[in-house]
Amino acid sequence: MVDRRDERPPTEETGTSRRSFLSRLWLGLGGLALAEYVWLMVEFLRPRPDPAEAAGVLVAGPVEQFELDSVTAFPAGRFYLTRLADGGFLAVSRECTHLGCTVPWMADEGRFVCPCHSSAYDIRGDVLSPPAPRALDIHPVRIENGIVKVDTGRTLKRRYFEASQVARA
Ligand code: FES
Repeated sequence: MVDRRDERPPTEETGTSRRSFLSRLWLGLGGLALAEYVWLMVEFLRPRPDPAEAAGVLVAGPVEQFELDSVTAFPAGRFYLTRLADGGFLAVSRECTHLGCTVPWMADEGRFVCPCHSSAYDIRGDVLSPPAPRALDIHPVRIENGIVKVDTGRTLKRRYFEASQVARA
């Protein structure tokens, strides 16, 4: 024997709740579609990163921002931008060439001194005292329209400082 109590034809009340459910469902789906559309528009309109920056080129700033005979740290790029007394620029790696410790600039001493085994380097990254076997690595620097840019994607190893390594405006 089959119980047919649940097979009654829909009343006005059950029809209304079904319509209400469907309209809420459509409203929810519409809201979801709208949110997706807004997200796509925001993604489309968002400025794209400079291809040079994406390749590892860091814009350090205008030439005149850096005083002569100064050292400016760029922790994000893991280097120091040194401006020599003659106006030239070098981007010196902060990694000691002995065993790789981070080398701080000691402004009062006017040199980089490694905290691990006391190697010291001058403002150009040249070795003043061992055990560092060679000068600090450098990154290529270029100056475009008065703006200093450092290519942190490229690291140049060197034995000594040479004048040809210096970038000039
Ligand atoms: S790691 Fe710098 S002196 Fe040893």
